[in-house]
Amino acid sequence: MRVLLTGGAGYIGSHTALVLTERGHEVLVVDNFSNSSPESVRRVEQLTNASIELIEADLADPEQAKRALEPLEFDAVVHFAGLKAVGESTEQPARYYRTNIDSTLNLLDIMRAKGVTKLVFSSSATVYGDPQYLPQDELHQTGVGVTNPYGWTKAMIEQIIRDVQVAWPELNAVILRYFNPVGAHPSGRIGEDPAGIPNNLMPFIAQVAVGKREKLMVFGDAYETSDGTGVRDYIHVMDLAEGHVAALEQAPSGVSTYNLGSGKGSSVLEVLRAFEKAVGRELPYEITAARAGDVAEMVADPAKANRELGWAVKRTLDEACADAWAWQSANPDGYGA
Ligand code: UFG
Repeated sequence: MRVLLTGGAGYIGSHTALVLTERGHEVLVVDNFSNSSPESVRRVEQLTNASIELIEADLADPEQAKRALEPLEFDAVVHFAGLKAVGESTEQPARYYRTNIDSTLNLLDIMRAKGVTKLVFSSSATVYGDPQYLPQDELHQTGVGVTNPYGWTKAMIEQIIRDVQVAWPELNAVILRYFNPVGAHPSGRIGEDPAGIPNNLMPFIAQVAVGKREKLMVFGDAYETSDGTGVRDYIHVMDLAEGHVAALEQAPSGVSTYNLGSGKGSSVLEVLRAFEKAVGRELPYEITAARAGDVAEMVADPAKANRELGWAVKRTLDEACADAWAWQSANPDGYGA
């Protein structure tokens, strides 16, 4: 297949570009580099010995989107492009709604005009809101108690895709609900490159390990979990990337929805210990107040993806930490170095 990756220069997009290329698919990337670098795509080309067409455009602008995508030929789209910082979305809600929703609507219009009927969408476990039960399967309620505009854009785009498919039955869409992506390609050549202070746990720990931050702030230790710190389902980004290939190749027609997670929860302190093992020394931390909007525990039930996509995670949290450390230590300033 010729697969267009929107936001394909970003963290998950670049790893998916690599895995798709290695599977023999042809990859095209469109990105506005608002939170990514063309260097990631260059490195994927080096790692795979393949060439990737890279187009700079902002899909939220309908004219730019048309100009960029109309001349291209592709059979499927994986739609990663979007803003993703939870805290920032609370401060700039209109920007989040406009960017994430407009880019999706523009993309769907262009796909329909071109007769491209296959779409994979990057959704998030955040659509489940406050967990009513664990582990969460795809039947868990969504769009109730979502705590931030970023999460709402994901819930709303899921609904938009379902509504568009009713009016355009040829559309085959796969909604992938990611749990917590971590790690990097084992080469250490591509990885997560957050702008500014990392919001997420593992990139923050990695920056403590490399000496860019003084210590990890552990957000709360009074949750009802094994050690009182928050529990999440961490998934190696290479496993996540493979989930996209499975979705493109195996998903049934119509709209289908899958959790991509490991099914195993780890606490903040367990992640810290695993990262310390990878680095070979203890890392400083301090327990601080819980972060607003955080839930105690999120764990995926990945059985549906296991069964219908023939996909399951293969890599452990220890491997994710080793790979994240290889990336962070070789690229202390990310792609900006
Ligand atoms: N945490 C800390 N210190 C930090 C950062 C995080 O203790 O400096 C804790 C959090 O409180 C939480 C855990 O580490 O218990 C994981 O936090 P992340 O910010 O890494 O991830 P979240 O689970 O909060 O958010 C992730 C994605 C979101 C997505 C959400 C869905 O980053 O995009 O999962 O639940 F919306």
